[in-house]
Amino acid sequence: MMLQLIFILSTLISITEPRNVSVGDSVHLDIQDLVLPSDDLFWVFNGSNNILRYYSHTKQTKPYPAYEGRVEFNEETYSLTLKNLQRTDSGLYEAKASDHEDRVVAKHRVYVFEPRNVSVGDSVHLDIQDLVLPSDDLFWVFNGSNNILRYYSHTKQTKPYPAYEGRAEFNEETYSLTLKNLQRTDSGLYEAKASDHEDRVVAKHRVYVFCKSVEEETQQCCCYYF
Ligand SMILES: *[C@@H]1O[C@H](CO)[C@@H](O)[C@H](O)[C@H]1NC(C)=O
Ligand SMILES: *[C@@H]1O[C@H](CO)[C@@H](O)[C@H](O)[C@H]1NC(C)=O
Ligand SMILES: *[C@@H]1O[C@H](CO)[C@@H](O)[C@H](O)[C@H]1NC(C)=O
Ligand SMILES: *[C@@H]1O[C@H](CO)[C@@H](O)[C@H](O)[C@H]1NC(C)=O
Repeated sequence: MMLQLIFILSTLISITEPRNVSVGDSVHLDIQDLVLPSDDLFWVFNGSNNILRYYSHTKQTKPYPAYEGRVEFNEETYSLTLKNLQRTDSGLYEAKASDHEDRVVAKHRVYVFEPRNVSVGDSVHLDIQDLVLPSDDLFWVFNGSNNILRYYSHTKQTKPYPAYEGRAEFNEETYSLTLKNLQRTDSGLYEAKASDHEDRVVAKHRVYVFCKSVEEETQQCCCYYF
C-alpha cells in the first residue's frame, strides 16, 4: 500500500508538451504540483544549472548570476518567467520544493529556435541538425502533423505529399529540404523525423514568411513587413 502510494505520488508530475519559442521571446513556466507555504523553492535548468532560489522564511528571491536581469519570479504562484531566450536555453526546466526533502513540482521542456525570416515568394533551405543513419527513413512535417515529404531509404524513393508537389526539393545526401515559393501560410514549425524502430526528431526550424514591402500588400500578403 505504501509502495503504491509512493509510486502514485512520484508519477504525478509528468513532463508536459514541449514549449516552442523563438530566440528573443519569453517563456512562462508554471508550477504543476502543491507547494507549501513553508517550502523553499528553486528552479533549475538541465538538472544542475541553478536559475533562482526562493526562501520562504525571509521571502527573498535570489537569481543566480547567469540569470540576473532576465528572470522573474512570482512569489504567489511560484512561476518563473524567462526573458530574452537564446538557443542555449533549450532544455529541461524543473522547480523543486524543499522542506525536509526535495520534491519536483514542475517540469517543462523548452525548445528555442532562431526564426528564419523569408519573404513571400522566396525559398528556404532547411538542414538536418542531428545524426541520420543510412537505414533510416526520413519524413519532413509542418506544424506537427502536416506531411510535406517522405523518403524511404531502402528504395531511395522520395514522395512529396500533394500539397507540396512541385515546390519541395529533397537532397538524398544531406536529407535537407528546400521549399520554394513560400506563402504567408507556410509560416510555422518545420521538423524532420528519422525513423528506424522509432521516430527521432533530427531537425527543427521555425520559419516566418513576411511581405517584402508595403506595396506588395494584398490579401495573401498582409500586415508584416521587413
Ligand atoms: C512543440 O513541438 C513539438 C514537436 O517537436 C510538438 O509535439 C509540440 O506540440 C509543440 N508544442 C507546442 C506547445 O506547440
Ligand atoms: C540541455 O539539455 C539538452 C537536452 O535535454 C541539450 O540538448 C542541451 O545542449 C543542454 N544545454 C545545456 C546548456 O546544457
Ligand atoms: C527574424 O525576425 C525576428 C523578428 O521579426 C527577429 O527577432 C530575428 O532576429 C530575425 N531572425 C533572423 C535570423 O534574421
Ligand atoms: C503553424 O503554426 C504557427 C504557430 O507555430 C501558426 O501561427 C500557424 O497559423 C500554423 N499554420 C498552419 C497552416 O497551421
